[in-house]
Amino acid sequence: MRQEQVMQVSEQRQWDRLMQMAQLGAIPGDGVNRAALSDLDHQSRRLLLSWALPLGLAPSVDALGNLFLRHEGTDPSLPPVLAGSHMDSQPKGGRFDGIWGVLAALEAVQAIREAGIATKRAIEIVAWTNEEGGRFAPGCMGSMAFSGYRPPGTWDDVKDKDGLRFGDELARLLAAEADIPRRPLGFTPFAYVEPHIEQGPLLEAEGLDIGVVTGIQGSRWFLVEIAGKTDHAGTAPLSLRQDAVQDMLRAITALNALTADPEDVLRFTVGRVEVFPNSSNTVADLARFSIDLRHPDAAVLTARGDAVAATVQGAMVKCRATVTETFNALPARFDPMVQDATEAAARRLGLGINRMPSGAFHDAQFLVPLCPSGMIFIPSRGGISHHPAEYSTPGQVANGAAVLAGVLVDLADA
Ligand code: GLV
Ligand code: MN
Ligand code: MN
Ligand code: MN
Repeated sequence: MRQEQVMQVSEQRQWDRLMQMAQLGAIPGDGVNRAALSDLDHQSRRLLLSWALPLGLAPSVDALGNLFLRHEGTDPSLPPVLAGSHMDSQPKGGRFDGIWGVLAALEAVQAIREAGIATKRAIEIVAWTNEEGGRFAPGCMGSMAFSGYRPPGTWDDVKDKDGLRFGDELARLLAAEADIPRRPLGFTPFAYVEPHIEQGPLLEAEGLDIGVVTGIQGSRWFLVEIAGKTDHAGTAPLSLRQDAVQDMLRAITALNALTADPEDVLRFTVGRVEVFPNSSNTVADLARFSIDLRHPDAAVLTARGDAVAATVQGAMVKCRATVTETFNALPARFDPMVQDATEAAARRLGLGINRMPSGAFHDAQFLVPLCPSGMIFIPSRGGISHHPAEYSTPGQVANGAAVLAGVLVDLADA
């Protein structure tokens, strides 16, 4: 009998878990605000453990707070297959981005165990720390450190909007989870699979169930700080001001010109703006803004990204600017073995698939240099994501978990 006929993911169980998780940080309009390393993040990890430990999965946590749950294989000496995603959300996020990937991995492993299927390799579920970067920028810190792309202390001094340090908040998490066995940071999995909502409109528009993800476009993030001088809004003549907001506007206008793309492929976003002292009748002495730049072609991303600092500097009239690059993820291509295993598992279940790239970045991008990696997408209603209205149906999430179960058994026995 085929494994898919034996393994039964539970649509109801997975949906109930998703909705329970969505209570942790619930915001109006069905949204979720669960910032990385916040108390709510701690609670979501405890809730995950409350489901995983009774199944007999072995937990461990590394120095970045990445959380693992191990289903043992018949040969424990072999590198495990890793599957999961992240549990933090955007500040005005939805109920599915990230958390579904972790719960799908739990559902898949539970179905494998309930079917009594013994796999040669272990399967480990992972919840990566701070994928979103909404509280502490950039995102993907857990997976970047795990893969060795950046050393673990890199972001200790990054502060959130309340001035709390990433390093302190990470230490607080690790202290709260002192009862969970610690493991060394980083290892080489046999393969990595990340289930995720598509966050785009294609699968729904095409009436398809599963996206076999071929790769991820590249992303670069920058932080720009523009220093001027405070002044009285009523008395200081414009000609004598060093107004940080006015030079910020010039910089963003120049960046719009730099990133103009007649083909509408390049993505340029200023999503975060801060002005100090942020008073209506005081000229600002500091303006700070984020840049998120993306393109699937490494050459284009490199050329435009490398021109960001000079473009900002060239736009300054009265103020001084500093430009810091905080994130640089080159375009990634996923392994054909994982893509083919995903397509095969979906076809065995009679599901319609499409091969497609990802516009969003994901932890999987940083696993690519380490091991064969890939992603499984399910449809997102209206293509909406990073928004409270984010939605996939119970049947769609069940399909995703069922495909993942098939992929995990294939890879764990390879
Ligand atoms: C990840 O959330 C992204 O911004 O692509
Ligand atoms: Mn995500
Ligand atoms: Mn996201
Ligand atoms: Mn993401």
